[in-house]
This record gives sequence, structure tokens and C-alpha cells, in this order.
Amino acid sequence: MKILLLGKNGQVGWELQRALAVLGQVVALDRHGAEGLCGDLSDLAGLARTVRTVRPQVIVNAAAHTAVDKAESEAELARTLNALAPGVLAQEAARLNAWLIHYSTDYVFDGSGSAPWKESDATAPLSVYGRTKLEGEQAIAASACRHLIFRTSWVYGARGGNFAKTMLRLAAEREQLNVIDDQVGAPTGADLLADVTAHALRHVLPPMRRNDLAPSGIYHVAAAGETSWHGYARFVLQHVQAAGRALKVGPEQVLAIPSSAYPTPAKRPHNSRLDTHKLRNTFGLHLPRWQEGVARMLAETS
Ligand SMILES: NC(=O)c1ccc[n+]([C@@H]2O[C@H](COP(=O)([O-])OP(=O)(O)OC[C@H]3O[C@@H](n4cnc5c(N)ncnc54)[C@H](OP(=O)(O)O)[C@@H]3O)[C@@H](O)[C@H]2O)c1
Repeated sequence: MKILLLGKNGQVGWELQRALAVLGQVVALDRHGAEGLCGDLSDLAGLARTVRTVRPQVIVNAAAHTAVDKAESEAELARTLNALAPGVLAQEAARLNAWLIHYSTDYVFDGSGSAPWKESDATAPLSVYGRTKLEGEQAIAASACRHLIFRTSWVYGARGGNFAKTMLRLAAEREQLNVIDDQVGAPTGADLLADVTAHALRHVLPPMRRNDLAPSGIYHVAAAGETSWHGYARFVLQHVQAAGRALKVGPEQVLAIPSSAYPTPAKRPHNSRLDTHKLRNTFGLHLPRWQEGVARMLAETS
């Protein structure tokens, strides 16, 4: 089996290189491409040409315009990367009868209420990022290609920067930390997303495919449980302190502030909870609690 992976060096893309390796030959590209293949999502003709050259059975798109605040002033580029490029990949997947695996976000919702969002709930994005990601989902559905769209939230990876590492750095420099406590979600590891992707792919591809009604569609994927950014920061500091690390700012000195005290160009949803029943029931997967993944990442990186 041949898998074309785009965005190989992002948080999720990096973990996908590991998780997909056991499924077949992975042709992994970053935006610079390789060996005459184009991995740049802003080059729509180049992307189509690449799919036609590689002729994969599966396309996994982990690339996107993910700079949520920057997207407010780069709406056209964000739309090309998050909406038009997935549309092209979907059309090419449909031509080859290949599967397209794509990632989306809870930012397609307006964040109202406190109930976890179901896949069938009405979307109402608050930002350019959310609107363009939603348009990407719609372009994929319209192409009628076989697809899995994993909507997720609050993604972190062990590689590169992340929220936990930023909190640890600030806790070593400052006297006090102010962290938002009115946005609630579940920190979700890029490693978990990559593993879920590989297991779901095994489920839909022959010889494991259970029936001809392969479960194309949108699935919510997030670690179990919930917290606020404030709770997340406190957990990280508590965890490293318990492991013997000295901090200038302990968990008790992390002050809770409302989003309104920390204005950003893009509006974020207050309620990022995702209902993951559909994923768990369809693919028979267990999603661990968010604390387990964060503790593991801290052990790997501290
Ligand atoms: N991060 C989150 O909290 C979060 C939450 C919900 C959903 N998601 C979704 O999950 C998916 C993976 O996100 P992530 O967290 O892994 O993001 P990430 O770490 O920011 O990775 C995105 C990747 O896209 C690449 N990229 C940017 N512009 C490109 C272009 N023109 N052509 C090709 N590649 C380009 C980036 O390359 P460079 O490094 O070279 O810029 C980067 O490797 C995305 O679809 C995202 O929307 C993320």
C-alpha cells in the first residue's frame, strides 16, 4: 500500500510518519517537496500533479494554515491552504478511488454552551481559521471521495514548542502567571491523533474492512476529560514539581483570568469540548484521559 503524507514535519505530521510506517510505503512531503513532487498546499496544480504521479491508496493531509491569529490578516492564504488545497486533494482522491484523511478543528463551532459538540451540531466559526477549516471540510464532502475528517482540539506534540513548555519557561522567569480559565477543552497529543489515524485506516482498508459501508465522514477525536488553560497550566507545574523540579512560580501562583483580559486578533471558542462517541463506537477505540498524554510528553521532554 502507498500512502501520501503532506505536512510531514508539523506536530501531527511528525507523529504520522511513525504511526503510518507499519501500514505501507509512506511518501512523506513537507512544503518544499522532494524528488520532483510538490508538497506546497499553496500550489494547487502542483498538488494535483503530485497525487497523479504517486497514485496513493491513501492521502493523509496534516498540513494547514494553523496560525490562528495570523490567519485574520492572511485570509486569502488561509483559505487556499485550509479550503482550496483539501478540495483539490479530495478531487484527486475521488479520481483514484483513494481515501483522504484530513484534520479539522473545534473552531468550526461558536463555542457556546457547555455540552460537548457532536459531529451533527450546527457549525458557526468565529474566526478566519475556523471558517476556512469548515470550507475545507465542505469541499471534501462535496467531492464524494472516501474520507475521514478528524476534528480535534488543543493539539500538542513532544517535538518543538507547546503550551506546557511555554508555561514551564515562564514559571522559571516570572513571579506570577496569568492564564485563561474560561475556555474549556481537552489537550490532545499529536501521538494519540496519529495512532487513532492508523487504527482507523486499518479498519477501513482491506483486508480488515468489515463491510462495504466504509464509514466515510467526520469524527471528533480528543483525549478524555476536560480542563481550562488555567487547569492545564496548573497540572503541568504540579507534575514537574512533584518530580522534583524547582520552580519560581508554583501551581498556586497561577492566577485565573478571563479571555477578555487577554485580547487576541482571532476570537476563540469558550467551549471546545468534543463528543467522541461516534469515533469510539465506529472504530472500537479507547481514548485515554488528557492527563496521561501530557504527563508522558513532560517525561519525554523535561
Ligand atoms: N494545533 C492545534 O491545536 C489543532 C487543533 C485542532 C485541529 N488542528 C488541525 O490538525 C492538523 C495538524 O495540525 P498541527 O497541530 O500538526 O499543526 P502544525 O504543527 O502547525 O503543522 C502544520 C504543518 O503545515 C505546514 N504548512 C504550512 N503552510 C504550508 C504550505 N503552504 N504547504 C505545505 N505545508 C504547509 C507547516 O509547515 P511549516 O512548519 O514549514 O510552516 C506545518 O508543518 C491541522 O489540520 C490543524 O488545522 C490543530
